Amino acid sequence: MKENSWIERDYLFLGVMGDPIGHSKSPAMHNAAITALGLSGAYVPLHVRPEGLGEAIQAVKALGFRGVNVTIPHKVEVMKYLDVVDEGARQIGAVNTIVNDNGTLKGYNTDGIGYVRSLKDEACPDLKGKRIVVLGAGGAARGIIYALIGEKPETISIVNRTAAKALALAEEWSSLADLRGYGEDYAEEALLTADVIINTTSVGMFPRISEIPIPQGHIPEGIVVSDLIYNPLKTELLRQGELRQCTVHGGLGMFINQGAYALEYWTGLTAPVQAMKEAVLSSFQ
Ligand code: ATR
Repeated sequence: MKENSWIERDYLFLGVMGDPIGHSKSPAMHNAAITALGLSGAYVPLHVRPEGLGEAIQAVKALGFRGVNVTIPHKVEVMKYLDVVDEGARQIGAVNTIVNDNGTLKGYNTDGIGYVRSLKDEACPDLKGKRIVVLGAGGAARGIIYALIGEKPETISIVNRTAAKALALAEEWSSLADLRGYGEDYAEEALLTADVIINTTSVGMFPRISEIPIPQGHIPEGIVVSDLIYNPLKTELLRQGELRQCTVHGGLGMFINQGAYALEYWTGLTAPVQAMKEAVLSSFQ
């Protein structure tokens, strides 16, 4: 019994909409996955400017795409063009994955759950009862914190350059978990008692690779230090964490696992994560 319209057509049309889109590694990753799964199909980069987003989303239906990813700058704006937005994506306020179910478009956010799957697989299998510090309070932090709440940590401390944003986010989801907001100047105690520190800011990203979002002395020895940045693969924060015997975790796994969840939503099949990772790594060379 065939369940999905794309299976009936025997061809899986997928893509990613963004502006710019030329440097996206998603096509290489998903086309490798399509091949590894033995499917017929293609995942294409789609350069969509903000003024064309509404029409582009309508075209997903008209052209029979099974789904698309949406990336910068469309993750928030796209929500108004969808028929249904999943609860998590609605809370986070951003969609990165759209599934076309016979003309009904449903939006999800796989960034946070992809990140948490990667963190658990690669660095910290059990987050329950952990004291987690998240650096940053922007869009990426929202997705990650929402997914982390589902893991039942003891506390999540949000540390942000603009303290008011950290406090507002901690307040917004205060009924879901023990969340605390801090400005950078008052975060020392939260950092020094952390089990896991996660950087969601752009501090340390190429080309400013010598920058670090917190003082090195605020990284406790032997904890888990994680960075969403994957260019470079090892940021200065992770280097300093290693010097303090920490388990370090970079952002590549988040990218791969957000794609793995998206592929699973589109196909119902288990994503070939290893083939996806190899494709992304070889596209760096
Ligand atoms: P994203 O979707 O990548 O999270 P964003 O919503 O613009 O992007 O959020 C960027 C985050 O990185 C914010 O928390 C920002 O801090 P502010 O709220 O104070 O702006 C943080 N950030 C960016 N550049 C930073 C820097 N140089 N130092 C400290 N924090 C920085």
